[in-house]
Amino acid sequence: MKTLSISHLLVLLCLVSAGLYAADKGTDGVLVALQADDLKVVQAGEVVYQANCAACHGKYLEGQPNWRQRDANGYLPAPPHDAEGHTWHHADDLLFEITKYGPGAVIGDKNYKTLMPAYQGLLSDDEIIAVLSFIKNTWPEEERAWQEQVNGNDPNTFGTVEKKSSLLDQLKK
Ligand code: HEC
Repeated sequence: MKTLSISHLLVLLCLVSAGLYAADKGTDGVLVALQADDLKVVQAGEVVYQANCAACHGKYLEGQPNWRQRDANGYLPAPPHDAEGHTWHHADDLLFEITKYGPGAVIGDKNYKTLMPAYQGLLSDDEIIAVLSFIKNTWPEEERAWQEQVNGNDPNTFGTVEKKSSLLDQLKK
């Protein structure tokens, strides 16, 4: 129970900070919405994910071991992007900006130590939207509903399209 309450506290803290960005145009003044129910976008995103993100965040979005603890050099391992992680605590636009500009730019600290690359110039905006849409598509209903609330959307309006039976599901079998 102890770990449960601590993790709930963490969820709350993340939400409070993510909430600052909800329905917010973030640092670049553009409000981006992901397209997690558009299967074409999701499928394209899966390809982008396996080619660019899986090496760190895991083939199955499972992240790296001990992802909450910085290593001896002060770097965090790559967190999972599945329901175990906290990617789903953040609004669409914040996820886009973390991926495009890097975590340091988003938190306003140019010297922030991180191994997460900034993908500006490496991936197009459409590719970034696609890869994050793929990630978002894999989240279970509860996390999806929660994240839509962080986005400032009605939590009941997502998922009208059947979930893609992705490579992810097939590989896990
Ligand atoms: C070289 C390893 C590496 C690669 C490749 C990588 N990441 Fe990351 N990513 C990280 C690390 C490490 C973090 C933790 C950030 C920190 O240091 O605070 C992270 C964090 C993130 C976060 C923030 C998660 C959260 O819950 O706050 C997002 C979103 C993200 N990555 C998306 C991506 C996407 C999308 C790709 C592929 C296009 C990608 N990453 C590729 C290492 C990587």
